[in-house]
Amino acid sequence: MRILVVGSGGREHALCWKLASSPLCEALYCAPGNAGIAEEATCVPVAASDLDGIVDLARKERIDFVVVGPEDPLCLGLVDRLETAGIPAFGPSKAAAELEGSKGFMKDLARRAGIPTAAYERFTDAEAARAYIRKQGAPIVIKADGLTAGKGVVVAAIVEEALAAVDEIMGRRRFGAAGAEVVVEEFLDGEEASLFALCDGKTALLLGVAQDHKRAFDGDKGANTGGMGAYAPAPILDDTMARRAMRDFVDPTLKAMAEAGRPFKGILFVGLMVGKEGPKLLEYNVRFGDPECQVLMMRLRSDLLPALIAAREGELDQVDLRWHAEPAITVVMAARGYPEAPEKGSEIRNLGAAGKEPGVVVFHAGTRAEGGRILANGGRVLGVSAVGRDLKEARERAYRAVDLIDWPEGFCRRDIAARALGR
Ligand code: AMP
Ligand code: GLY
Repeated sequence: MRILVVGSGGREHALCWKLASSPLCEALYCAPGNAGIAEEATCVPVAASDLDGIVDLARKERIDFVVVGPEDPLCLGLVDRLETAGIPAFGPSKAAAELEGSKGFMKDLARRAGIPTAAYERFTDAEAARAYIRKQGAPIVIKADGLTAGKGVVVAAIVEEALAAVDEIMGRRRFGAAGAEVVVEEFLDGEEASLFALCDGKTALLLGVAQDHKRAFDGDKGANTGGMGAYAPAPILDDTMARRAMRDFVDPTLKAMAEAGRPFKGILFVGLMVGKEGPKLLEYNVRFGDPECQVLMMRLRSDLLPALIAAREGELDQVDLRWHAEPAITVVMAARGYPEAPEKGSEIRNLGAAGKEPGVVVFHAGTRAEGGRILANGGRVLGVSAVGRDLKEARERAYRAVDLIDWPEGFCRRDIAARALGR
């Protein structure tokens, strides 16, 4: 089969790395890709959200199957466009991607389906939102309805901060049309975990539970980022709890989506807050997490490609995935200044030696190649990943590889998985 992966981050490198090892994969393309992906796939400079460009590329290269990584093209309807053009594609339709594309839609669905989630109200009128916030008091959480690359959520400790968030999102329209509506919801206390399920519209397979590290610096300090590291499995949600979460969150969501005429096919990323009352739904994403995908792919023993094809074809009840027993970890290396203003263009050396460490794979996120050199070309630049007999060994291996990489302009957190190891 001729496969096209859409996207350019560490998640897409991990997907390409895994798909390239499939005996079914005859040719692998990635649009637009990065310098690391270029080792696995033919990279073509078409942006992930250029729907016409992606459809044209898939036609020109006679692609048999497209795997879409990021949320933007999914929410814009890339899978619908490809399928209409007769090109089979993995991922949710535009209508199903609303689970991530609209926080209000997701909350209404959860309420209807009886899924445990924070109490909330939706507002298109800023004055009504402000009145509700004053009535509820703090702490309270304000969310722009639409896609904001993770920046549209404010967890407000005091009422003034919540009111300022409403002004920013609805008044000044910091996120444009994504802020035409807000969700105001109850603050949930606890520890976060992400559960991943592969879905075919009716059936869901558990892919695992991972824990991300959202803040830029050690000890959960600094700005929110796309994720500075991940590990799987995550002891916060053991196998029994994960099965229960499949039953309490994923299954009712698939049922409600099918009833709404929006059958969900693709990856359902369930963001959970695990507190005293058990897990509650924070959010849905309709794609793999980045860097969670990297650790899941390191642990997957089965061929990914037939599973993705079965998901598209509604035949996941025929699929049984096998996993390595070893835990996996990813340490993200970011360019200085990330997330506000990452410096671009610095050279990264000694990647080859790092990648030769036992159990280690270095996934690229924001890199480009120039004259045989690898240069930083984004905020999150590398995802140094490792497996080990236990999480401790995986972590030692990952940091040993990190220390071999010669890149003074980069930084990483030194406490990835510290919480799990401290339990
Ligand atoms: P979301 O994109 O909805 O997951 O929100 C981004 C982040 O904001 C989450 O990963 C949590 O850390 C935090 N968050 C979102 N909703 C809540 C909530 N109701 N209570 C506490 N923290 C929240
Ligand atoms: N790492 C979190 C995300 O991909 O949204």
